[in-house]
Amino acid sequence: MDTIILGIESSCDDTSAAVIKNGYLLSNVVAGQSVHEAYGGVVPELASRAHQQNIVPVVHEALKRAGVRKEELSGVAFTRGPGLMGSLLVGVSFAKGLARSLGIPLLDVNHLTGHVLAHFIKTEGEEADLPTYPFLCLLVSGGNSQIILVKAYNDMEILGQTIDDAAGEAIDKCSKVMGLGYPGGPIIDKLARQGNPKAYTFSKPHIPDLNYSFSGLKTSFLYSLRDWLKDDPDFIKHHKEDLAASLEATVVEILMDKLRKAAQQYNIKEVAVAGGVSANNGLRNAFREHADKYGWKIFIPKFSYTTDNAAMIAITGYFKYLNKEFCSIDAPAYSRVTLK
Ligand code: KG4
Repeated sequence: MDTIILGIESSCDDTSAAVIKNGYLLSNVVAGQSVHEAYGGVVPELASRAHQQNIVPVVHEALKRAGVRKEELSGVAFTRGPGLMGSLLVGVSFAKGLARSLGIPLLDVNHLTGHVLAHFIKTEGEEADLPTYPFLCLLVSGGNSQIILVKAYNDMEILGQTIDDAAGEAIDKCSKVMGLGYPGGPIIDKLARQGNPKAYTFSKPHIPDLNYSFSGLKTSFLYSLRDWLKDDPDFIKHHKEDLAASLEATVVEILMDKLRKAAQQYNIKEVAVAGGVSANNGLRNAFREHADKYGWKIFIPKFSYTTDNAAMIAITGYFKYLNKEFCSIDAPAYSRVTLK
């Protein structure tokens, strides 16, 4: 019998629904929220209101594109956390209502686990090259920078994580002080392609274990910029490409140094990357270089899986469904960052 899972994601500012049948993706619909652009960041109250407006049409569209009737669904997977509470509640409540009305199981998914398991999504007509357990995953987003040892779909160990800012957060903040716009990641990425990554040197952290730190880099960037602006008020205008390239190169170097250390320490050669920052071209290139130099087998997600999406929620729900790991109707959403 077919296993058809509807996934629902509403943890931040994207409302998304996806359908996965027997591990194969049939549809993945994402509605973004442009309402936040004017504020330079996500406004939680506006986000939850937009989710409320989007959720029904987005789910409807995902089912339509998949060619699946809701009565055919085996289970409903939803992001339970972490994320913005008001945003999460829209998806959580919708998923509970739908699952109950159809009399099918509910599957709660941790958003971060979803990012990691996105590497297992299969697409009809495309050759599936899936990671084998155990593998390492570098999870890099606006809120997280973690090295995860993935032992099974439901057994993950955090080997190292940031003790202050996340990689994406540091890039976003540096971009903001340069007046480049929000979110800074894609802007820095684009500018960096035209700049010299060796033009400037910023400080790198010295932490002995597998943890990260990005606040020192951020401070070093701000102080250097302040000095350069004293001499030349148009410094940013004239050097933004080199600044972006040097900043990106430092972030990538910090990330890869620890990842390499983890791979050596745990003797693992299968290495994946996930999360919003995994869209970064400098980071993707560094992964390819590491594959050549260290014999790593690498897993780089499709761009559509780097940002928030329900496909990754549906695939995680699919694995849980096969293992009968169902969730109770009274399970609350959680906002804090955990990996469960
Ligand atoms: O995983 P994600 O979509 O969600 C949050 O954690 O909120 O990650 C968003 C982060 C932001 O910091 C954004 O600037 C960064 O991912 N990002 C990038 C790129 N695209 C998005 N950073 C560097 N290069 C990119 N191309």
